[in-house]
Amino acid sequence: MSNNNSQDTVRITRVDGEAADLPLYHGTYGTPCIDVRGMPRDIDCFTYDPGYATTASCSSSITYIDGEQGVLLYRGYPIEQLAEHSSYLEVCYLLMYGELPTIRQMHWFRNRIRYHSMVHEALRRFYEGFRHDAHPMAIMETTTSALSAFYHDKIDINDPEHREICAHRLIAKMPSMASYAYKYSIGQPFMYPDNDLGFVENFLRMMFAVPAEEYRPNPVFVRALEMILILHADHEQNASTSTVRLVSSSGANPFASVAAGIASLWGPAHGGANEAVINMLEEITQSDATVEDFIERAKDKSDPFKLMGFGHRVYKNYDPRAKLIRQACHDLLNELGEDNENQPLFEAAMELERIALEDEYFVERKLYPNVDFYSGIMLRAMGIPLNMFTVIFAIARTVGWIAHWNEMMDDPELRIGRPRQLYTGPERRDYVDIGER
Ligand code: ACO
Repeated sequence: MSNNNSQDTVRITRVDGEAADLPLYHGTYGTPCIDVRGMPRDIDCFTYDPGYATTASCSSSITYIDGEQGVLLYRGYPIEQLAEHSSYLEVCYLLMYGELPTIRQMHWFRNRIRYHSMVHEALRRFYEGFRHDAHPMAIMETTTSALSAFYHDKIDINDPEHREICAHRLIAKMPSMASYAYKYSIGQPFMYPDNDLGFVENFLRMMFAVPAEEYRPNPVFVRALEMILILHADHEQNASTSTVRLVSSSGANPFASVAAGIASLWGPAHGGANEAVINMLEEITQSDATVEDFIERAKDKSDPFKLMGFGHRVYKNYDPRAKLIRQACHDLLNELGEDNENQPLFEAAMELERIALEDEYFVERKLYPNVDFYSGIMLRAMGIPLNMFTVIFAIARTVGWIAHWNEMMDDPELRIGRPRQLYTGPERRDYVDIGER
């Protein structure tokens, strides 16, 4: 194939001379995209791209990542500014509606989310059906999916008002459902939401309060968690968001689609990495092996071990979220005092980072710490149990999934997601009776 680039079209020519002139699209920023939809018609070819590493599956105006420069923008606003000045709910509004809210809009939005914070009483009884040691992500998948059985009154996906109510319900109920998954696992009573509290305070209260005692969330933890939620709120077409888009492209309801997003997020190559990082750091601090030994293992192709929290499909530079989280983690641990039990993990993480960033293997492959590398240490320092880390990620990412779902539903180019394949199986053959095989 050869390329003959003009400003708005690209000519793709097969070696046999057949050619297709394909439109070239330029977004606000980023690599331009060739519209390959005419290829099967013009030159009888599909594109082959396992993992969709070079395929734009849609156009989107929500989030922009420049992986080479380490830039992340939500609706044009740099993540650093939002992390410093904004709140999670304000970021939710921004991602959903495209603009930062006025005071009045923020007041309205906060009330909408508060209004939907409780879950149906019958859904609360679902939790009793799980083993006490079930992973909370497994519970989250199930209970999120079950929401469609409880809230089918407003589930017409073609009605913008219904879509908005579904979106508010999902954002509002996710912390309640997450805290129930935790409370059930430790045998404590579920706490109802307290709608006088902010989103993060409310979640911490539902997680850690008991009916017998007064509970006041630590403001340092509130701010730290607020930042973690902001940083995880969206990340354009990642695996779980693409899953939500694919599932809902068939017209599936948003609760089912977000449940599928949760399933995708749980994988250790995606959101499950924050849990895996802590397991790795604990292994490092508790074993006799040195940090260098672990780096060597990560480089050894015959060893399945990878440096968890390192590497990213899009970032070929320091993940800007990791930069912010590293500093926030440092500040949080300082606040808790030098002798807190998480300090050794933080020090091991920094040592790992320092050695990896000087190592040829990591430098050559442009492998840098990602958002999960330090977030787990922060969550651990706040007393969040390990198996709830990815759940917190799911709470944060719900708005991203919802914003993409909404954008997709309004997209005139929406078609059911249906990739092609390169068939490599057997050629046509005839059935042989079982006794004759
Ligand atoms: N440790 C060691 N080597 C690595 C790592 C790592 N963490 N990440 C990538 N590599 C190596 C690969 O083995 C590959 O080497 P090769 O070229 O010699 O074959 C090369 O770097 C390129 O990596 P790919 O796997 O092709 O990159 P891909 O974009 O497919 O995967 C991913 C990205 C899944 C994030 C990967 O880097 C990884 O598994 N990292 C660890 C898990 C992790 O931290 N996940 C969180 C991602 S961020 C998020 O979801 C919030």
